[in-house]
Order: sequence, then structure tokens, then C-alpha cells
Amino acid sequence: MAVLTVPKLDLAASAYIPTPARIVRTEQLTEMEKLFEIELNDPRRLGHEPGQFVQVSLFGFGEAPISICSSPTRPDTFELCVRRVGTVTGRLHALNEGDVIGIRGPLGRGFDVNEMHGRDIVIVAGGLGLAPVRSLIQYIVDERGRFGQFHLLYGCRQPSEILFRDDVAAWRNDRRLHFLQTVDKADEQWRGRVGVVTTLIKELPELDPQQTVVVIVGPPVMFKFVVLEVLARRIPQRSIYCSLERRMKCGIGKCGHCQANQVYVCLEGPVFKYGQLKGLREALD
Ligand SMILES: Cc1cc2nc3c(=O)[nH]c(=O)nc-3n(C[C@H](O)[C@H](O)[C@H](O)COP(=O)(O)OP(=O)(O)OC[C@H]3O[C@@H](n4cnc5c(N)ncnc54)[C@H](O)[C@@H]3O)c2cc1C
Ligand code: FES
Repeated sequence: MAVLTVPKLDLAASAYIPTPARIVRTEQLTEMEKLFEIELNDPRRLGHEPGQFVQVSLFGFGEAPISICSSPTRPDTFELCVRRVGTVTGRLHALNEGDVIGIRGPLGRGFDVNEMHGRDIVIVAGGLGLAPVRSLIQYIVDERGRFGQFHLLYGCRQPSEILFRDDVAAWRNDRRLHFLQTVDKADEQWRGRVGVVTTLIKELPELDPQQTVVVIVGPPVMFKFVVLEVLARRIPQRSIYCSLERRMKCGIGKCGHCQANQVYVCLEGPVFKYGQLKGLREALD
């Protein structure tokens, strides 16, 4: 039987106690997803790494783990993209500018950007997976000189589900990155590619396996197919990152809700390398 090892906790008070924070701007991105720009009622900045998450506390309703979708290089406020699915996210969608929420965090482990400096980067995002990886995309765009080639591949089910349309337009016109986009199913207005996100990998130029880092964030079924394409291009498992969404409650290694085999995803993730995941049988179910 695998032994459960809980990493030693070295968490700030902000991980345990919600800090009051003000919603300074909202934007309805799609029918289901809304963007919230948040400012802490606290002189400290959030101080997160790309890929980390916060627990959003709504007093009287509960908490929900939500990825920070803006980069620490834009530090005065931070952004959350929230899909309305239930109690907490539904209540959050009803809030507007000026309303106060609670924030615990930043929590979890994000992307190791130092390890990515100087390397070529391929990011493959599917559906709502664009939200957790947007903080890394913004980081790379803001620190462009520190990275090699940058390929960004984004797919969603249909045009009405495209997130961050202003960003998508900017990425398409940014000559410093190579942006490819597809939808599974077109509507009458759509003039772009049609097909699952995996098809975009075939359009990539040859990748240098020793120089390239690949980041894959999306639903588990997408991850399984994309990772096969990436491994076929001889990218080592240690150079493939993903971000996992397990059910979470506490976010700080206390309750066990996020446990996948012997790992607490809230502490050791949500960002993992593919090599780490192979030992976690249930992680990608
Ligand atoms: C690390 C992490 C990062 C996340 N980032 C984002 C993000 O950036 N944007 C976003 O919209 N969502 C994100 N989620 C998912 C989000 O936390 C859940 O959608 C949210 O907790 C649902 O809470 P609720 O009270 O609105 O729904 P509930 O009323 O609790 O449930 C509504 C439905 O969602 C299901 N559900 C409940 N909790 C979860 C959960 N944690 N994961 C999956 N399904 C759940 C229930 O089975 C039910 O069908 C993230 C989750 C994790 C673990
Ligand atoms: S959510 Fe990971 S232990 Fe509670």
C-alpha cells in the first residue's frame, strides 16, 4: 500500500484566514464564464506564481478554489475567470464592482518559470484550461526576451465559448508568438480552423526535444491525446507540464479531498510534470 506523505506546511496566515478583497471590474466573457478583477484590502500584493490558485470565500455560501488567471508581472490587482456551476460560483456571478469577497492564498504549486527561462515553449490549452494557463501566457509575453520560440495553441468546443477574446485578438497579431486556434464545431460566422486541439500539433514546426517545454491544460481526455502527440515528437516527460483540477475543500493539506493516490494535489500541485503523474493512477480520470 502506498504511504501518504503530507509535505511539511510552511503556509502564511493568508492561506488560513480569508483576506477581504474588493471586486474592481467584472466582464462577462461567455454565457457561463465571468472575469473578476480583484484588489486585496491589504497593503500586500498577492505575490503569486503563474499556475497557483486562491480559495474564494463568500461569507454564508462557502469557498471555491479558482486559478489566478493574470500574471504576477501585472501585480496591482489580479484576475479570476469563473464558470457558473453551483452555489459559490453562482453567487459570485451575481456580484459586481465594489462588492467584497474573501481570498485565501495564493495556494499550491505553480509553473517553474525559472526552469522555463531560455527554453522554447509550447502551450496547449483546451476550453476553460485557458484560464489557469493565462497567467503563464501573460508572464511569457511580458518577459518575452527570457524565452525562446513561443507557440500557443488554443481550442474550444464552439465559437461562443471562446474565452478572453481581446487577448486572443492580441495574440493573433503579436509577431513575437505563434498562435493557432481551432473550434470543435463551427457556426455560420466562423472562418477559422475546425477540429480538436490535437490537430494543431501537426501544424507545429519541428521541435528541439532538449530545448522545448510543453504545457498542456484542459480536460483529461484532451490531455491524454495531446500528450501522445507530444511524446511522439520525443519531448521528455520531465519537460511536459499539466495542471490538475481535483475536488478541493481546504486547499492546504488538511482535509484529504484532493488526494490522488499518495499525493495531496492542493499542496504538490495543481501543476505537475507528466513524469510525476504517471505514478498517480487516478489523477487523469
Ligand atoms: C485548483 C483548482 C483550480 C480551479 N480553477 C478554476 C477556475 O479558474 N475557474 C473555474 O470556473 N473553476 C475552477 N475550478 C473549479 C471550481 O473550483 C468549481 O467549479 C467550484 O468549486 C464549484 O463550486 P460551487 O459551489 O459553485 O459548485 P457546487 O454547488 O459545489 O457544485 C456544482 C457542480 O460542480 C461540481 N463540483 C463541485 N466542486 C467541484 C470541484 N472542485 N471541481 C469540479 N467539480 C466540482 C459538483 O459535483 C456539481 O456538479 C478549479 C478547481 C480547482 C481544484
Ligand atoms: S483540499 Fe487538499 S487536503 Fe484539503
